[in-house]
Amino acid sequence: MGHDLVIVANRLPVDRVTDARGKAAWRRSPGGLVSAIEPVMRAHDGVWIGWPGGTGQRLKPLKIDGLDLVPLSMTADEIEEHYEGFSNGTLWPLYHDVVAKPEFHREWWDTYVKVNRRFAESAAELAAPNATVWVHDYQLQLVPQMLRELRPDLRIGFYLHIPFPPAELFQQLPWRRQILEGLLGADLIGFQLPGAAQNFIRLVRQRVGHKTHRDLVYLPDGRTVRAAAFPISIDAAGFEELANSPAVRDRADAIREALGNPKKIFLGIDRLDYTKGIYARLRAFGELISDGALTVDDAVFVQVAVPSRERVEHYRNLRDDIERLVGRLNGDLGRIGRPAISYLHTSYPREEMAALYRAADVMVVTPYRDGMNLVAKEYVACRTDEDGALVLSEFAGAADELRQAWLVNPYDMNGMKAALLEAYGAEPKELTRRMRAMRRQIAQHDVKAWADSFMTELTDVEHSHSKTVRP
Ligand code: G6P
Repeated sequence: MGHDLVIVANRLPVDRVTDARGKAAWRRSPGGLVSAIEPVMRAHDGVWIGWPGGTGQRLKPLKIDGLDLVPLSMTADEIEEHYEGFSNGTLWPLYHDVVAKPEFHREWWDTYVKVNRRFAESAAELAAPNATVWVHDYQLQLVPQMLRELRPDLRIGFYLHIPFPPAELFQQLPWRRQILEGLLGADLIGFQLPGAAQNFIRLVRQRVGHKTHRDLVYLPDGRTVRAAAFPISIDAAGFEELANSPAVRDRADAIREALGNPKKIFLGIDRLDYTKGIYARLRAFGELISDGALTVDDAVFVQVAVPSRERVEHYRNLRDDIERLVGRLNGDLGRIGRPAISYLHTSYPREEMAALYRAADVMVVTPYRDGMNLVAKEYVACRTDEDGALVLSEFAGAADELRQAWLVNPYDMNGMKAALLEAYGAEPKELTRRMRAMRRQIAQHDVKAWADSFMTELTDVEHSHSKTVRP
């Protein structure tokens, strides 16, 4: 029998959590990917394969809200070498412009191969004849090829949620050829931006030696692979509705009140990750206060840092650095009841995020490199009154679409300070002009449009290939 659609991602759309009484339970992940893929899954009798978090638990397939989920367990060693090691100690920094130094360890690679194989074997078992399999992200780049070897009848799509680096950086990877060949098992490879797809095509030509033409790769066995951009998005209507709900409006007012009703609230919400540029942005804000350009009565900076990958060394060091900086800034610049930075090391449900977005006058998103950055899009979707300013790094994928943001180079401290100040002082008319244009973009390109276009292209892939004239 099997399923006509198989989603393969490192994480399941639910997390295994322990409740207050110590009982294990499932909690829906708040992530946007679930809401994007859920309708596609329902329409195609889909199943989702992924790691439920945590070690070694052997869990049976389950159904949650009508969705079929298959948990794949990982041992403690596999988590250390596949997830924390090769995925987040090698690939993550390498693919994000080497913002931190990637580590190359042969044992990590061996475990990455082993875990990828387990995902591929599970997908091969669950897929119906001629089914579609959609594989997600950098943790699973070998799955397309492994799966094609097991099941040549399948239609295979791959989507990379993070940047794909230029050849000059990718080249460092000792296993560069294996990764490229792993991805080439797919019929369609999706990236966030056209530049990433071009990086990939160029590498395939140079390193694997296949013929390419525009966005197509021609394999010796006669197969054609397409690599193209599909910028991911959010459930814009869902966020808008949430932001307009009385509960979220009230909560936004309560947040302003609790912060002492400053003239303006600056907001950052990020996973606590060194790619996000949290340190530099807080320094820029701190300097504006110590320069006298802003006072702690004018403005407060609320920084939500969502705990992430806490066993990886770079992440532990980053947390220490940021918390030392926040302490110093508040110690030097704050007054009683008026800290410069209101720092929260936690994650929040969607409702609280929407309330924070509503409460914030200036949203500050300044990554050194980011595949897309959905926080920037969520902020825009929640600004239903067409006000609020977005300060956005040029190096976030979202900057391609949100051209009316205050675009900044996060490495340029003075440039960032100037942009924060401009956004702070912008006239209401100017804010509305910019926000209206950005809201139009997000409304038209929501996550449903993203999932639909990827699935449509994937379905058409064979059809269009058969019409392609080989060079
Ligand atoms: C990024 C990646 C995802 C990942 C998420 C959270 O968005 O693209 O694949 O799931 O971060 O990171 P984590 O390591 O907790 O899964």
